[in-house]
Amino acid sequence: MAKIVGGVATTHVPSIGKAIADKKENDPYWQPFFRGFDYVHDWLARQKPDIAVVFYNDHGLNFFLDKLPTFAVGAAGEYRNQDEGWGIPVSRSIAGDPALSWHVINALVNDEFDITMCQDMLIDHAVTIPMTLMWPGEKWPVKIVPISINTVQHPLPSLKRCLALGRSVGRAIESYPQDLRVMVVGTGGLSHQLDGKRAGFINKEFDQLCMDKLSGEPDTLTRYTVHDVVAEAGAQGVEFLNWMAMRGALLGQVTELHRNYHIPISNTAAATVVLENGEGAERRAA
Ligand code: DHB
Ligand code: FE
Repeated sequence: MAKIVGGVATTHVPSIGKAIADKKENDPYWQPFFRGFDYVHDWLARQKPDIAVVFYNDHGLNFFLDKLPTFAVGAAGEYRNQDEGWGIPVSRSIAGDPALSWHVINALVNDEFDITMCQDMLIDHAVTIPMTLMWPGEKWPVKIVPISINTVQHPLPSLKRCLALGRSVGRAIESYPQDLRVMVVGTGGLSHQLDGKRAGFINKEFDQLCMDKLSGEPDTLTRYTVHDVVAEAGAQGVEFLNWMAMRGALLGQVTELHRNYHIPISNTAAATVVLENGEGAERRAA
């Protein structure tokens, strides 16, 4: 059976890609952020996942404001990136696992999530930057199942709904008969606002609260509405929805193994978290 080994959540700021292309990882500006990935690299080397299920938000590359699904699941054999206009190199493609994607899609629809299924799907910086951070300079050793959550055009799904989506995905993976080691990834956040009167807004206290509750008490965060999150974390801070879905997929006893928090990278409070998925009560209750 497939096993979920744990989860990684990380910021996906595009300029990280430019810093990597320019080999600036050890510059004083970038070093505190990139050092936060040393632990992630060690953890991945130990865990050796075969698959990464990536919860992220598309920023207008595959879906635009004319047609924007709340939840979309990729079912392609390969996912391509394109020039998004951030001045960063176009990423190489990432392999998919259509059989696992269809298994997840069937399970989600069976659980009454009305998702969009995508046999052709471009992936943007919200997938490629975390992949590059996790496996720098290597051929990527995992196939992906990308799951896009609308954090762009209101109305957005609630934190509660995204946690439930993640739980459904977690149950789907654990019922997959192939012996695969699966990790889950949530990208974006934490607090940031890219435009408008509050451009540059960051809220360290709220970010820390979200990280403190994420591993052990994620349900307590569902009392925040999406508009509360916009108020507390900025208009783009709602990318935390992707973190909630990632957390939901971990059905075991969840422990935070690693946390790095650094302000700012570009306009964003940059955060990286690694969560372990142990045996435990939540799996039985799910
Ligand atoms: C930035 C952050 C994002 O999440 C994003 O998608 C684009 C840009 C930024 O801080 O520059
Ligand atoms: Fe973003």
